[in-house]
Amino acid sequence: MILVTGATGFIGRSLMPRLEQAGFSARAYQGRMNDPIRLRAELDGITTVIHLAGSEARGRDRLLHHVDVDGSERLVEEARRAGVQRLIFASRFGADPASMHALLQTKGQIERMIQRSGIPYTILRSTSLYGRNDRFLELIVSLAIWSWPFVWLPGGGKMALQPLWVEDFARCLVLSLSRPDLINKTITVAGAERLRYVNLVQLLLDVPGYRRAPLPVPMLLLRPLNRLTLYWWYWPPVSRYFMDRFFVPEVTPHDTVLRQFGFQPARVRDTISYLRRPGLALRIFRR
Ligand SMILES: NC(=O)c1ccc[n+]([C@@H]2O[C@H](COP(=O)([O-])OP(=O)(O)OC[C@H]3O[C@@H](n4cnc5c(N)ncnc54)[C@H](OP(=O)(O)O)[C@@H]3O)[C@@H](O)[C@H]2O)c1
Repeated sequence: MILVTGATGFIGRSLMPRLEQAGFSARAYQGRMNDPIRLRAELDGITTVIHLAGSEARGRDRLLHHVDVDGSERLVEEARRAGVQRLIFASRFGADPASMHALLQTKGQIERMIQRSGIPYTILRSTSLYGRNDRFLELIVSLAIWSWPFVWLPGGGKMALQPLWVEDFARCLVLSLSRPDLINKTITVAGAERLRYVNLVQLLLDVPGYRRAPLPVPMLLLRPLNRLTLYWWYWPPVSRYFMDRFFVPEVTPHDTVLRQFGFQPARVRDTISYLRRPGLALRIFRR
């Protein structure tokens, strides 16, 4: 029996039907991460935990600490007590307890906690994920709609990215379940294409057919702009950690998924037709 935390989130919504299709018996954790009584009750009889719950989207360092770090600690404690035999954690590319970026630092701390827990684990570090209702490509298009006639390009858009389709990531998570060779391993998965941000933006805007003039934004202005536009917003649709992508290039070998899981991830241009749907302009006002 598998328990999935964060099952209602972006990754969880792709993962749950895949688990069912693959014949696994999985249920969503219904409580909050810092509720040890609820955790204990729901972990009863569970052999595997897929841990997706996280507060990244809220963009608050305080919540990262409370939900992600403390919540994961509670989960690990209770999972150990319940005799869980496998813990799979969705981490981020660049996770490092010594990172200067709060989100990556948090992910690094959780990874270390899991690695030292004594519970057999698999950590999948992924580059940024995209798919319908993402908080990544949809936001880039939505922001470009509002910044007419320009599109902002931090650092001139030179940084490289390797976005991974969320359905491919969910597939990797499911495949991990039947891979004993991945026990106690921390592996990185990424899309097969390396794109400069400027080229990615062009690709995205071509889908709905928008034309925008590139407006380079110096990297030095990014953090102040981020503070100015997002810090007053209680639940901003663009996470304050969104900007980290521009400081930590997400670049790895292009065949990580093929090597580890034996399939070629989808190409960005083949999986972004969802950007054509109406109402994307309002995306930045939705969570
Ligand atoms: N999206 C990416 O590009 C990406 C890439 C690599 C790694 N990751 C990591 O993968 C995980 C899932 O990402 P995601 O994009 O699916 O995130 P998401 O859409 O923001 O979903 C987060 C999930 O966590 C739950 N959650 C938040 N606070 C909680 C709490 N206090 N107690 C219990 N559940 C709580 C949410 O449930 P409620 O809505 O009910 O609060 C939701 O189901 C995160 O840790 C993220 O950092 C994401």
